[in-house]
Amino acid sequence: MKILVVGGGGREHAIIMKLMQSEKTEKVYCTPGNGGIAAAGAECFDVSATDIEGVVKLAKELKVDMVAVAPDDPLVLGMVDALQAEGFMTFGPKKCAAIIEGSKVFSKNLMKKYNIPTAFYEVFTEADKAIAYLKEQNSYPAVIKADGLALGKGVIIAQNEEEAIQAVREMIEDKKFGESSTRIVIEEFLTGPEVSVLSFTDGKTMVPMISSMDHKRAYDNDEGLNTGGMGTVSPNPYYTEEIAKECMEKIFIPTMEAMNAEGRTFEGCLYFGLMLTPKGPKVIEYNCRFGDPETQVVLPMLDSDLVEIFEAIYNHELDKLDIKWKSGSCACVVMASGGYPEKYDKGIEISGLDAKGQIECCEVYHAGTKLSDSKFLTNGGRVLGVTATGLTLNGALEKAYDGVKKIDWDKVHYRKDIGQRALKALDNDELHLGYKDDMEDYIEENGVYLRQ
Ligand code: AMP
Ligand code: GLY
Repeated sequence: MKILVVGGGGREHAIIMKLMQSEKTEKVYCTPGNGGIAAAGAECFDVSATDIEGVVKLAKELKVDMVAVAPDDPLVLGMVDALQAEGFMTFGPKKCAAIIEGSKVFSKNLMKKYNIPTAFYEVFTEADKAIAYLKEQNSYPAVIKADGLALGKGVIIAQNEEEAIQAVREMIEDKKFGESSTRIVIEEFLTGPEVSVLSFTDGKTMVPMISSMDHKRAYDNDEGLNTGGMGTVSPNPYYTEEIAKECMEKIFIPTMEAMNAEGRTFEGCLYFGLMLTPKGPKVIEYNCRFGDPETQVVLPMLDSDLVEIFEAIYNHELDKLDIKWKSGSCACVVMASGGYPEKYDKGIEISGLDAKGQIECCEVYHAGTKLSDSKFLTNGGRVLGVTATGLTLNGALEKAYDGVKKIDWDKVHYRKDIGQRALKALDNDELHLGYKDDMEDYIEENGVYLRQ
């Protein structure tokens, strides 16, 4: 099969490496791709990931058998619909289903209608009404979210009334995120460990993948600004078997069925951003795609053929597959440009990588790199995701950090504490439902962390 992957970050690199492992794969193309994806042998093109006409034209020219659309924007814009109209086999939800990420108002109303646990909320289109509501509630922190896509920056956790009013005015009146913030959601602030669960679904069958934990803040100890994600570990030790079962019954299957009932069957990877609150797991957000950098730790743990899974989803035959996961753990440390997520330089030469953009001990997923005269240059905020697997989380983390130390460039920045919270969770009884003992027995017997 010839497969075209749309996108150009670490997530797409991880998807491509997995697709390349399949015996069914003859060739993988990527647009726009990046330096590491090109060095891995996937031919890259300069058609933008949001250029629907351009991607359809490219798919025709390359005569591909399948197109996998990875980022949110083209999915929300309807790229899959356009490709299917031309007869292509696709991976990714159609526009009518991608709205689950494209509109927070849609997803919150869906959860309310179908009793799927989430934070209490109200929707506003007028700043004055939103501010009156904030004053009446007088409860901080308050969570203020832009309705539409906002490059991962559309969520403000306001610590006091002043910050909340500023956020509301910026979103609705100053249109900080354009049309995305003319409607906003104000919701209850929840607490608890966060878990990311990606799932494969064809609308009939729901297959949650191995769980993971993102590290969103720029600096150690969860300080600094929110980023696209500075590192991930998988599995997430907070996600016990009991919690996985509860999520399946109260969140995953009900969401799949709710989308069917709305005539918006979701086919692809449905991402559940969960918070394990004292009142049980609740949905913080849905994404209509693989998470980034969650995918960089989830797909290396997949022990099944990803091309077969994509085909099965397209043909609504996911029930026929027995999807398998490896034991052990996986860790990914993101190496970023100094200054990210604000201002940073590009075009700086990276040292330590071989001709394929790799190092010996780890898998290096390229997020923002460019190949120029056989040299890898930085070309974005998040530059590399250095990823390693191990029998234990500790082992995976040690390997990943050993890898990080072999790579360098001017003003490189990475967090030194990826995975520490997950490791501590096992030590200090933070785990829900008193599952610590079971987990420790399990680890002793199997040398691996418990997972779904
Ligand atoms: P998002 O950009 O939607 O992934 O949200 C960014 C982060 O904001 C999430 O990962 C949470 O840490 C936090 N967040 C979002 N909604 C809530 C909420 N209702 N209560 C507490 N934290 C939240
Ligand atoms: N890492 C979070 C996301 O992909 O949205």
